[in-house]
Amino acid sequence: MEARKILLTEDEMPRRWYNILADIKMNPPLGPDGKPVKAEDLAPVFPMNLIEQEVSDQRWIDIPEPVLEVLATWRPAPLVRALSLEKALQTPAKIYFKNESVSPPGSHKPNTAVPQAYYNKVFGIERMTTETGAGQWGSALSYACSQFGLECKVFMVRVSFDQKPYRKSMMAAWGGKCVPSPSTETRAGREALEKDPHTPGSLGIAISEAIEAAVADGSGKTRYSLGSVLNHVMLHQTIIGLEARKQFEKIGLYPDVVVGCAGGGSNFAGLAFPFVLDKMNGKQVEIYPVEPAACPTLTKAPFVYDHGDTAGYTPLLPMHSLGHAFVPPPFHAGGLRYHGMAPTVSQLVTEGLITPRSVTQLDAYQAGVLTARTEGFIPAPETTHALAVVVEEARKAKEEGKQKVIVFNWSGHGLLDLGAYERYFCGELENYELSDTEIAQGESIFRNYPKPKLLKSGS
Ligand SMILES: Cc1ncc(COP(=O)(O)O)c(C=O)c1O
Repeated sequence: MEARKILLTEDEMPRRWYNILADIKMNPPLGPDGKPVKAEDLAPVFPMNLIEQEVSDQRWIDIPEPVLEVLATWRPAPLVRALSLEKALQTPAKIYFKNESVSPPGSHKPNTAVPQAYYNKVFGIERMTTETGAGQWGSALSYACSQFGLECKVFMVRVSFDQKPYRKSMMAAWGGKCVPSPSTETRAGREALEKDPHTPGSLGIAISEAIEAAVADGSGKTRYSLGSVLNHVMLHQTIIGLEARKQFEKIGLYPDVVVGCAGGGSNFAGLAFPFVLDKMNGKQVEIYPVEPAACPTLTKAPFVYDHGDTAGYTPLLPMHSLGHAFVPPPFHAGGLRYHGMAPTVSQLVTEGLITPRSVTQLDAYQAGVLTARTEGFIPAPETTHALAVVVEEARKAKEEGKQKVIVFNWSGHGLLDLGAYERYFCGELENYELSDTEIAQGESIFRNYPKPKLLKSGS
């Protein structure tokens, strides 16, 4: 029997993260004066040890021992061969997934929540604030804070708060406090509610609220934490791809195709960046970030400078953006409803090192259900977007008669997303594709901002 699960021992767990900033050129984040942001400008928001990581150009960064100890609760994560899915698709392709749903909160998010909580703790911080879309990030940070004895306050996008009441209970189980966003607790929240009292909320608004809550606290003991987008978040997630590379080495294979869904970019980056490094060193590998057609940041939005949040509290980041005022339609993949994208992922797209794709909600659910019925595990709605492309690639391999090796990131389980599955089974979910007019409306917001340069790494 061919190995179904490729496992690593705890001793084989990577001891260092891979920092892609050592290998690519980036436009700097800009402050309100249009000049590159200085580390001290970010100090009220993040602890200095994380700010240093955010701007580090050291290729390999040691993972602190206390972080490794917590990660080892569920890591190394298995690399699983999706044999039953392969059979159902009658494909010659070999499909593997990195199962990140085995963490306590059920997703890849604690890979960065744990180090972020640790670095805050050693910096003397007592309380963390954050936003959450689908609830996975809020759960992950609540869990991580509980591991290091920190308080956690989570602003959860209202549409998800209403759709997923058990996420709030999960956060409460780890001692986290969760409120729906927009809330009346912050100026950014109150302004959003004044504009539209029935707004479904957005990640952009929730980020503004969480930053404001951290900075306004005034005690000096509260900091904000972001679950995606930033360089240090991508860095922490690379443990996924570094493990996957070792697992493929064990079975003497190397992937032809690497796939991950992309909301802010972190689970995709986590799996993909170590393979991007290989690609920059000459390996042949196709790398696909996948996003929803309803929020097509990488596939349709321009590469610009824009804020990461709605109120404009964050620096201007060089990224693909639908405009920071963008309120996405309430489709059922909460974690993929973000207007922007990680600057590092955006940069790789502009350089053609990775190729973004978008899929519709119904194609995503169809692939998710096919996978549940074959592999057994029920994927998170976000993960189903990666699956839709995996299914497409496996069918293409069949047409071409090629025995490709495909790997994708199983970014989370869908066991708290069953309401969305229920709506899919009842035929209530519809496809929604963002129109060019809507995209043009979003663009008006950053029209007068500085423009990032088109940089080419290695030149
Ligand atoms: C299970 C899952 N997958 C993917 C994502 C998308 O985020 P990112 O692109 O940062 O991985 C989320 C975000 O909430 C998520 O919960």
